[in-house]
Amino acid sequence: MVVQIYSSALLGIKAQKVTIEVHCSLGVGYHLVGMADHAVRESTYRIAGALQSVGHKIPGKKFIINMAPADLRKSGAHYDLALAIGILLASNQINACVDLDQCLLLGELALDGTLRPLKGVLPIVLAAKEHGFSAIILPEENAAEAAIVQGVNIYGMHHLSQVMNFIQGNNTGSSEKITAQKDQCQQCRVVRPNNEYDFSMVRGQETVKRALEIAACGGHNVLMLGPPGSGKTLLARCLPSILPPLSYPEALQTTTIYSVMGQDLSHGLIYKRPFRSPHHSISDKALIGGGRYPMPGEISMAHNGVLFLDELPEFTRKTLEALRQPLEEGKVHLSRAQYSVTYPSAVMLVCSMNPSAEGSGDISANYLKKISGPLLDRIDLHVEVPAVSFEKLSETSPSESSAKICQRVLATRQRQMNRFKQQTFTCNAHMSGKEIEAYCTLKKPVLNLLEQAMSQLGLSARAYHRIIKVARTIADMDQSQDIRAEHMAEAVQYRVLDRQLDKGIIRI
Ligand SMILES: Nc1ncnc2c1ncn2[C@@H]1O[C@H](COP(=O)(O)OP(=O)(O)OP(=O)(O)O)[C@@H](O)[C@H]1O
Ligand SMILES: [Mg+2]
Repeated sequence: MVVQIYSSALLGIKAQKVTIEVHCSLGVGYHLVGMADHAVRESTYRIAGALQSVGHKIPGKKFIINMAPADLRKSGAHYDLALAIGILLASNQINACVDLDQCLLLGELALDGTLRPLKGVLPIVLAAKEHGFSAIILPEENAAEAAIVQGVNIYGMHHLSQVMNFIQGNNTGSSEKITAQKDQCQQCRVVRPNNEYDFSMVRGQETVKRALEIAACGGHNVLMLGPPGSGKTLLARCLPSILPPLSYPEALQTTTIYSVMGQDLSHGLIYKRPFRSPHHSISDKALIGGGRYPMPGEISMAHNGVLFLDELPEFTRKTLEALRQPLEEGKVHLSRAQYSVTYPSAVMLVCSMNPSAEGSGDISANYLKKISGPLLDRIDLHVEVPAVSFEKLSETSPSESSAKICQRVLATRQRQMNRFKQQTFTCNAHMSGKEIEAYCTLKKPVLNLLEQAMSQLGLSARAYHRIIKVARTIADMDQSQDIRAEHMAEAVQYRVLDRQLDKGIIRI
């Protein structure tokens, strides 16, 4: 007799349907085929133990278990439940009263039959819905996460016996059907999460705050330069508080990454913009992702949020080089011999540098060499963060709150969204040469100003497009259709490093 059961394989953030065919006939033997890895092959022992715990067994017959598609790698212990149910059905130890063609089974079995949770439930359930499955049976620890997805019945169970009862129609009420959490399902729901850091905490630093507001408005990458204790880290931590809240599709993407990482998602979708601040000793694999079964790195965990590289020159050159392609494309491709996975990595990059860490107050060309080149090329705004005077620090009147700044950011973002309706991106920072040409026409005096500034300040060619994009954002903040001279003049200011690189030295 042959039975078919369905489960799922996760490759990166993409899940695929896996059909498990169990053939049981006279004879002896147990053959598991279909590119199953070690953990799947070991399932036999876990299943034998679990079946015994519920008064059943793998009978002395010949089993051929085929996991299709055959060319898809199957890894992980979450196939245990589907395999165990397949064996019980194929050997006529139980009969199914529910339509198993509509049902996806997931979960690792303990030797006593308990179901153990798995990682990556959210992308699996999303794909299952797309494939037309109407019910998912999985460990109860994963049920709340699965219930993020609307329109699929989720059955969270804690033991194999409960699953058997459910399949045989002896539902004693112990298996709980969980419906999608109402508040998660509103596609346009916008939630303003609480932020620990708020710009009202920062005294003075008006120029830096202005630069960070521009960055938030246009999605630009920023580099902050300043002496120790001037508030660089504090300012960077405040940035997420002025970014627009995640939209429903963005929250779904970001939550999917955390699901693959196996984080607790029992509270539902993550609406808070991620802020990741990896230590400078991080390896390139941990930053962009990797491993035998490639997992997301810090840059993907910061997807739709901020990746903060504090003390930029302390990162190894190799690590920073690895960031090039993911920053450019907004995704990371990780290839292995038989397959490759892609994780999203659309981040705002914020970096800080402390030139006086070198001993003198100068940034030497040598110091800059560590970070110059490709990475610097991708940073639109360089801003100096001077030490704050005692008078400023001791001021009691509160600074402008993040909520207020955020309102302006939201309005400016809306203007860009209207402009980029036909495009796949929504921010000025992501414009390519073509869009710059279309949306950033410069009138003669403005063009002259840019030319003059570039030659006088000795700005390199790479600064050219960056300055125009920033000027576009400043004009948008000013609700101006045209990029005017004052917008351009301000944008030019934010190229501190370009100015100094050519001279070989910078003094803060
Ligand atoms: N402008 C400011 N307003 C209020 N507090 C400030 C300001 N600048 C610094 N501070 C205080 O000083 C502390 C140190 O600032 P922070 O760690 O952000 O400095 P930093 O520039 O990152 O220094 P380092 O280069 O040593 O990392 C902050 O936690 C904050 O309490
Ligand atoms: Mg710091």
